[in-house]
Amino acid sequence: MSARSFRVSIANTGEEYVCSEDDNLLKGMEQLSRKGIPVGCRGGGCGVCKIQIESGTYRSIKMSRSYVTREEEASGIVLACRVFPQSDITLSVLGKMVKKFELYALPAQRTSAVPAPAPAPALSTEAAAPAEDGQDAP
Ligand code: FES
Repeated sequence: MSARSFRVSIANTGEEYVCSEDDNLLKGMEQLSRKGIPVGCRGGGCGVCKIQIESGTYRSIKMSRSYVTREEEASGIVLACRVFPQSDITLSVLGKMVKKFELYALPAQRTSAVPAPAPAPALSTEAAAPAEDGQDAP
């Protein structure tokens, strides 16, 4: 019996690809030279490929609790390299790389609120004011 294949849609980029139920979502993307999910160790050890499954069913294998908590996994947040599709899937990328890209993006290109850098501290008015005796401070 041959493996079934399913359509995978990446909501962040609009990218779509077909993935076999025998391949994890990251491998399926790479095999077709598609992009969208950041690629790291490919073995569940770096957390770079963290995604949110928006819709669809999947089978997952053990993943590091350093990157995906039990609560996150229960809400569909998983590592793409540890998940195999069981139906068509729609996902969003959540990994470290997405945050990095957003931090370095121009403000007009940012898709989410990134805190602006803190303003420089104002000069003290005491230090800028002339000394009371009319002479400049040393
Ligand atoms: S690529 Fe490293 S955890 Fe998936």
